[in-house]
Amino acid sequence: MTADAPLADGAVSSLGDRFGAPAAAPATSAITLYARGASAGFDRKVADALALLRDAGRRFSPITQASSLGVEDMVVTDLLQKSGIDASIFVLDTRKLHAETVALIGRLEAHYGRTVDVYTPDLAVAAAFVAENGEDAMYRSLGLRKACCDFRKMVPLERALAGKQAWITGLRREQSNARAEVHDIELQRIDGHDGASATRAKVNPLAGWTWGDVWHYVDLHGVPYSPLHDRFFPSIGCEPCTRAVTLGEDFRSGRWWWEQESAKECGLHVSQDAGADGDGAALEAPGFESLPGAVSSLADRPASHAAPVRPITVSTVPESSE
Ligand code: ADX
Ligand code: SF4
Repeated sequence: MTADAPLADGAVSSLGDRFGAPAAAPATSAITLYARGASAGFDRKVADALALLRDAGRRFSPITQASSLGVEDMVVTDLLQKSGIDASIFVLDTRKLHAETVALIGRLEAHYGRTVDVYTPDLAVAAAFVAENGEDAMYRSLGLRKACCDFRKMVPLERALAGKQAWITGLRREQSNARAEVHDIELQRIDGHDGASATRAKVNPLAGWTWGDVWHYVDLHGVPYSPLHDRFFPSIGCEPCTRAVTLGEDFRSGRWWWEQESAKECGLHVSQDAGADGDGAALEAPGFESLPGAVSSLADRPASHAAPVRPITVSTVPESSE
């Protein structure tokens, strides 16, 4: 692990209380609650995910997994191990993660006997932002929230992805309306400051998985996961911007819960919004050079970070060779 010092064990959110969220729900096993709900095509989905990863491993090098340490990403890591492909794993430690999330980095490393690359924000930038805007700036305006996501996530993401041909995520179509168009493989065009452009693939092996599929896999394979999932946090982001959900609330309702549904993305996966341009759906992944006109969905980012990934959504069906 290459992280800075982890947060203290047992740290609890006081901001959650402030917004009326349950501070500590009784311990419950997410496996008990969800693992029996796998879909009929579960075995096929696992085989397809492994085939997709092996195919991506052959076609893209270097390739890396972006892990938030949420349960989908823990399943992807397990699949990655089973696939045998040579992929690194990275975590963006925003310095606002829950103690449970930071602790899971070490648990993952011990379980799989491998290291995780940890990317942190520029601490001087973080300190200046907090000094000027306060620790709770994200609640005051969408602009401040996005600025926080920008220096804590987007800028480190650019560092994590520099030189990589592809990254692997745990995105699922079921997660939100904004993700309903997530494909197995998507292509992003990266325009450099020198005018040259390149492409990077985003590989989403769980795109068609349900919540029940994810937990059934965890149960079957003994995948380590965050105890926050046992406390009704289905989707886990930064501590100030994530809370537990209650019965009937949707999957991402605990993320940025004070914001409009349409605003609820931090920018890591803006390509799903860009998919609305209608351009890329028929494009095949190998045809990198034939990318049609891209849409810049990062246009609202500060100029200093404007370089740029201009995303295009593309679909390929994994070969069913496995
Ligand atoms: S977010 O955009 O709202 O934050 P979400 O938490 O649903 O995203 O995670 C979607 C995917 O983004 C994850 O499966 C993972 O691949 C990547 N991701 C999200 N947060 C991080 C993080 N802190 N570090 C690395 N990857 C992340
Ligand atoms: Fe900042 Fe919240 Fe975004 Fe994390 S999710 S980077 S704390 S605004």
